[in-house]
Amino acid sequence: MLLSRLQHKNVVNLYGYCAHGEDKLLVYEYVANESLDKLLFSGQGGQVAAAAEVLHWRRRFEVIVGVARGLLYLHEDAHTPIIHRDIKASNILLDERWSPKIADFGMARLFPEELTHVQTRIAGTNGYMAPEYFMSGALSPKVDVFSFGVLVIELVSGQKNSRFSPRHDASTLLEWAWMFYTQKNTMDMLDPALRSTADAEQVAMCVQIGLLCTQANPKLRPDMRRVVVVLSKKPGPLEEPIKPGIPYSKHKRRSHGLGRSSYTTGESSAMSSGASSYATNSAFAANPNNMASTSSSSSATTTTTITTMTITPTNSTTSRS
Ligand SMILES: Nc1ncnc2c1ncn2[C@@H]1O[C@H](COP(=O)(O)OP(=O)(O)OP(=O)(O)O)[C@@H](O)[C@H]1O
Ligand SMILES: [Mg+2]
Repeated sequence: MLLSRLQHKNVVNLYGYCAHGEDKLLVYEYVANESLDKLLFSGQGGQVAAAAEVLHWRRRFEVIVGVARGLLYLHEDAHTPIIHRDIKASNILLDERWSPKIADFGMARLFPEELTHVQTRIAGTNGYMAPEYFMSGALSPKVDVFSFGVLVIELVSGQKNSRFSPRHDASTLLEWAWMFYTQKNTMDMLDPALRSTADAEQVAMCVQIGLLCTQANPKLRPDMRRVVVVLSKKPGPLEEPIKPGIPYSKHKRRSHGLGRSSYTTGESSAMSSGASSYATNSAFAANPNNMASTSSSSSATTTTTITTMTITPTNSTTSRS
């Protein structure tokens, strides 16, 4: 119910939901160019050329700005503040104008404004989770800020944080970016697909923002309002980052033996305050005319499965998500 009230051009529209016992179904609008990861991490050869053509620097910068605005809306301007908890390239969708939309609220949490953080059990994705969150379950909007910082460094470098192979004394993508930042040659960490389109000043600013957002100490990370201000106009002097934190990367997910894409949380959700826990947004083929038959089954008594379905507004066809 609360998610369906979210309205922002950088947040995907939720058309409806269905709750049937332990089964939960979310129905989102279909977003034409699908998710950012498919282009950003598309690999070698002709794919690099494709990434250079469609994901040139101006577009990537617009993606960074749009995701920052969407997150600011969720954290501060939505009716009830929300922490997304799973910001990553595959959960950023690109519409027909390449404008980004934050998607996949399967792990989102309501966040009482008066608190600095809430204690939760951990759910998230390898390579994007803030250190204080995976160490102690301390959840605050700064957890999304950390994931956003990882995403910014991925957009600049074209590299997937969780697939980074250690090099030049850097064991993570963030350390690698930090190395270039301290040497003042951030253009050397650029995605080769951006060579002819990048703006060196904007690249340097984005790397600095990415590093500030991924500071190990959440208090040293800016909030999304500050990030949006810095990105939107000529910023004043920006704080100097120190060495970034290390994102959670030991296991893909905390799965408690329920399979690769299951989460066990034991907490109430932004979507359904009655749910005791959630699990995955697993892909499936759905027929919008027959929603009841598309609900996926729950995988364990402590786990509820949330399934995602997308609908194209123009012709009401469905697509796998
Ligand atoms: N509303 C949508 N419109 C268009 N494509 C979508 C939509 N939602 C999801 N997708 C596509 O479906 C893919 C699978 O999405 P899904 O959320 O199930 O998996 P994921 O994001 O790759 O991983 P995770 O399960 O960790 O979220 C996405 O990568 C995206 O390309
Ligand atoms: Mg997803």
